[in-house]
Amino acid sequence: MPVPLRHCSRPRRPSMRVAYVTFEDREVDTEIPVVLGAWAAEGLDGEALRWDDAEADWSAFDAAVIRSTWDYVPRRAEFTAWARRTSQVTRLFNPAGVIERNTDKTYLRDLAAAGIPIVPTEWFGPGDEPVLANDWAETVVKPNVSVGAQDTSRHDSREGATAAIRAIQESGRTAMVQPYLDMVEAEGETSLLFFGGRYSHAVRRPAMLARDGSGALATGDPREAAADQLELARAVLAEIGEPLLYARVDLVRSASGDPLLIELELTEPHLFLAAHEKAPARFAGALRDLLA
Ligand SMILES: Nc1ncnc2c1ncn2[C@@H]1O[C@H](COP(=O)(O)OP(=O)(O)O)[C@@H](O)[C@H]1O
Ligand SMILES: [Mg+2]
Repeated sequence: MPVPLRHCSRPRRPSMRVAYVTFEDREVDTEIPVVLGAWAAEGLDGEALRWDDAEADWSAFDAAVIRSTWDYVPRRAEFTAWARRTSQVTRLFNPAGVIERNTDKTYLRDLAAAGIPIVPTEWFGPGDEPVLANDWAETVVKPNVSVGAQDTSRHDSREGATAAIRAIQESGRTAMVQPYLDMVEAEGETSLLFFGGRYSHAVRRPAMLARDGSGALATGDPREAAADQLELARAVLAEIGEPLLYARVDLVRSASGDPLLIELELTEPHLFLAAHEKAPARFAGALRDLLA
């Protein structure tokens, strides 16, 4: 009697369960179905859950991958405490220590001290007098804890910048003041995506503070990263020195054409997976390798 086929096939490895960590308004995250599909192709059984879901049992997952936790800004302490707790019961990506450091943009100061060229920045902590040392014609004022250009404004007067600094200080945050970099309109911002430490793809993003209001959050067109941009992005990641599932290095050129780090996104970056056909599989493969 022929043996039924199912007895002949090798037993399937039970698939791993992975939490895709999102927030209350998960429908604004267009990458959820793409990622869950790519994970499934790697035998990773993904489920989207909000980070502040009181019912979630994170210990039931082999890993939790922070993705669209875009509401943590006014609750940063709660969010980083959640990351610490979660990392004790499952594998959290990126690691809790990285999340803690990366959700406060003063990490840019550390990178600058290590020799990374960042956008020139003056820092005003809550108690500091908001007197600008530089005489930049146009400035951008932003808080040290922010996502999606929240509370970020552009000014052509000292008075305007000072008022914006005070408002951020009053919210208990540190204000960052930078020159407005025009190249963000000419060339756009370049975001380089790395999965498991390997470069995947890059996108060109529109200027979010352009006067014509053209900037939109999750828009990015495929772009070839230039050699100097790749080199800087790799130097930035070398400074982190921890295994990262995902990293997005955001660069803008100075007026003289040098790439400058504007932001290192290690917490909840949109990954622009639609910009490269191999990107979803690369992201899923990096997770599979880290879990192996
Ligand atoms: N110094 C700057 N010059 C020109 N545009 C800026 C500058 N800083 C920020 N922006 C614009 O504002 C956006 C949001 O600022 P960013 O520093 O990336 O903070 P986040 O994305 O965390 O809110 C950038 O993507 C860019 O379009
Ligand atoms: Mg940004």
